[in-house]
Amino acid sequence: MNYSTDNLTQVNLTLYKNAEEASIYTANTIAALISRKQKEGKHAVLGLATGNTPKRVYQELIRMHNDEGLSFQNVISFNLDEYFPINAGDSQSYTYFMEQNLFAHVDIKSSNIHIPHVDGSSTDISKYCNEYEEKIASYGGLDLQLLGIGRNGHIGFNEPRSSFDSITRLVNLHPVTREDAKSDFGTLENVPQQAISMGINTILQAKKILLLALGQRKSEIINKAIYGAVSIDTPASILQSLPQVEYILDSDAAALIQK
Ligand code: GLP
Repeated sequence: MNYSTDNLTQVNLTLYKNAEEASIYTANTIAALISRKQKEGKHAVLGLATGNTPKRVYQELIRMHNDEGLSFQNVISFNLDEYFPINAGDSQSYTYFMEQNLFAHVDIKSSNIHIPHVDGSSTDISKYCNEYEEKIASYGGLDLQLLGIGRNGHIGFNEPRSSFDSITRLVNLHPVTREDAKSDFGTLENVPQQAISMGINTILQAKKILLLALGQRKSEIINKAIYGAVSIDTPASILQSLPQVEYILDSDAAALIQK
């Protein structure tokens, strides 16, 4: 793959004045894909994200389900990541997050939901991770991957220094990531040291990638990820070289961007 950085003019940026409008646009893009695939009699294979950023997107998708008849019957979902170890029922788990913020409120079939959760007692995590990859491939790959971004430039839980060729695997969490998760877990000690995450290469294979960034605390990393050097020190920087990537920003997240 060519990771050239001389393509800045091709970066697909969609700017909105606030988080609400950016989130609704993102939800509309996802809903349009689901409906189009439905008309074609096909599955819509969605890569989904957690964190605060996509919450409003999911609310809007739920509203469309309730008010406009948007159906998730044809949706196959694969979540980006999950803490390890964690009980799926714990309120900090991404399994719980997805149930609360989306799945319990729409008509997705539970057998179509995939979250990279591994039981703490599991002995063969890498086999599980390889099977996760195979499952994505068995559906023809991800039609769309929704991404947030960590303050250190991570996507999923692909922390700085993750290989661009990485696939789903067990990863160690970066101190900044654990610090940011502290409020969810109460204390830093309670934040898991590890997670299972789709790899960067897994993400890059998606046919369409939406990176949503909201708020001033993302402005510095967004500027670096889009216009800085392509480097494994900033995992999201690899996205700037890909034509299928669309960055959706509110004005606060875009504050430092100078074109
Ligand atoms: C976590 C998730 C990422 C997410 C990031 C940002 O680390 N693993 O997928 O993008 O947090 O979270 P937030 O949207 O809450 O800022």
